[in-house]
Amino acid sequence: MGNAALITGASKRLGRAISEHLAGLGWDIIVHFNSSQDEAVELVEELRMRYPLQRFSHVKADLSVAAEAETLIPKVVSEYGKIELLVNNASVFIPATIAKTSSEMFDLHFNIHMKTPFLLIRDFGDQFKKGNIVNIVDTRITSNSSGYAAYSLSKQGLWDLTRMAALEFSPGIRVNAIAPGLILPPEGKDSDYLWDLAKKNPMKRPGSIEIVLKSLDFILENDYLTGQLIFADGGENLGYTDN
Ligand SMILES: NC(=O)c1ccc[n+]([C@@H]2O[C@H](COP(=O)([O-])OP(=O)(O)OC[C@H]3O[C@@H](n4cnc5c(N)ncnc54)[C@H](OP(=O)(O)O)[C@@H]3O)[C@@H](O)[C@H]2O)c1
Repeated sequence: MGNAALITGASKRLGRAISEHLAGLGWDIIVHFNSSQDEAVELVEELRMRYPLQRFSHVKADLSVAAEAETLIPKVVSEYGKIELLVNNASVFIPATIAKTSSEMFDLHFNIHMKTPFLLIRDFGDQFKKGNIVNIVDTRITSNSSGYAAYSLSKQGLWDLTRMAALEFSPGIRVNAIAPGLILPPEGKDSDYLWDLAKKNPMKRPGSIEIVLKSLDFILENDYLTGQLIFADGGENLGYTDN
């Protein structure tokens, strides 16, 4: 049996790409989902067909609810015994300045990006003495722009949590983060949306899922790396260019 990975929010988009990529490298994958059950089932079936010697399964949990988040690692332990990798990828991305952010909207972002990863990291550290945790943050953590205030602040918290956890759970568990930039348009928007935003980006073009996957490979392959952040953002964290 190979190494196993739990990917949150894995049924679609970036989470799905991470799952397919890791499966191709020989990992067993636990596909976490909340509302996208059909996509999760379809992904697991596809992976089973492509890699019949590996194990794949799906698990449902609403990660905005702590009691559900706390079921995840115990479920995985009962099915797989242990896992070697947790990717905290699940996310919500709702635009609102501070002035327009409701208490519920604030809690939703902080529960999914901060509290749940905190609980999952805690449980991972409790159950397993070795492994990797990768937190998907966002290049927006470097900006004070408030267009996605609760999103950006909760992702800043996830980056702080990354460093704290890296220290606490060393040397057995490495904890790192990836900060994507313009990778996939939000649902309902097309690539023109990204190309327009990319005009002020240092690299002058959107990135691709491949950039994030290469960052993940870099983290997994470098076993002296912990508490680090890889910006997969074409330099957006530096600021916008004037030209
Ligand atoms: N897309 C980009 O260009 C970009 C840029 C910067 C950073 N990122 C970061 O990269 C990661 C992936 O991005 P993405 O655009 O692929 O993400 P996404 O589509 O916005 O969300 C990924 C998954 O999160 C899950 N999720 C949402 N609410 C949930 C809840 N209450 N409980 C459990 N799961 C929940 C959803 O699962 P279900 O569908 O099953 O409900 C969804 O499929 C995110 O962490 C995001 O912040 C992305």
